[in-house]
Amino acid sequence: MSKPVLNIEHVRQRLAEIESTQHLQLHAFKSIDSTNLWLLKHGQCADVCIAQKQTQGYGRQGRRWHSPDVGNLYFSLKTCFNEVPKHYSLLSLQVAICLAETLEELGMTGHRLKWPNDLYYGDKKLGGILLQSQKPKEVIIGIGLNINMPTSEAPNIDQKWGNIKPLGFKLENLDKLFIKLLEKLSIALDRFSELIVMDFVNQWNSWDMLLNQSVQITQNNQCYQGKMTGIDTSGRIKLMDKSGDEQHFSSGDISVRL
Ligand code: BTN
Repeated sequence: MSKPVLNIEHVRQRLAEIESTQHLQLHAFKSIDSTNLWLLKHGQCADVCIAQKQTQGYGRQGRRWHSPDVGNLYFSLKTCFNEVPKHYSLLSLQVAICLAETLEELGMTGHRLKWPNDLYYGDKKLGGILLQSQKPKEVIIGIGLNINMPTSEAPNIDQKWGNIKPLGFKLENLDKLFIKLLEKLSIALDRFSELIVMDFVNQWNSWDMLLNQSVQITQNNQCYQGKMTGIDTSGRIKLMDKSGDEQHFSSGDISVRL
């Protein structure tokens, strides 16, 4: 199996040439505990931390993010806003849209987003996003993307997973993917305070893999069943039950009902 590896010097050079990414500072490691942790401890605004391997990669709800040195993408970006953005609760969804759009621009099709910010193809998770914040105006955005995870790693992963390589992603485009994603993120973060919420909701719904599906949401040991009808203007998911009543959820595990 060929392992895609980023050409860090090339990436650094391109980031310096592109207007929206010129301010980013890239810190690259062969191995690290976690790129999010590194930024939490040492990060300055506009720092990007990337690693070939993470020994303690983690995801939402304290889950482990298995991060072997196989050519997957593990990176985090520390972004600082002048003011706490009005639509802060939409930020993680915005990051997910940037990821989905970048892959689309690189020729990938058929991928979708699962609320709040997972990248899927069919029922397989390809990537995840973790936002962490120590101060209201500062956010660390961590992204993990399976590019070429070998099946021998399957016992270490506790959910259905997939890679982007079999979906038409060319390994030689890894530099391009990372640069484009940083460019897209930088532009979106820069414009985030001017977000037009109704446009954003429509944009999210066009990527939403669960829209109009019958699902079950588990929250605080309670189960709710109904049809997903998209997100509201705060980024909460909307579930319509049999009687037509709509409930909004800001957290919870969602599974599709067959
Ligand atoms: C999830 O789906 O639960 C989110 C996964 C986020 C993983 C990324 S990999 C880079 C960054 N460093 C971490 O330790 N986690 C995030």
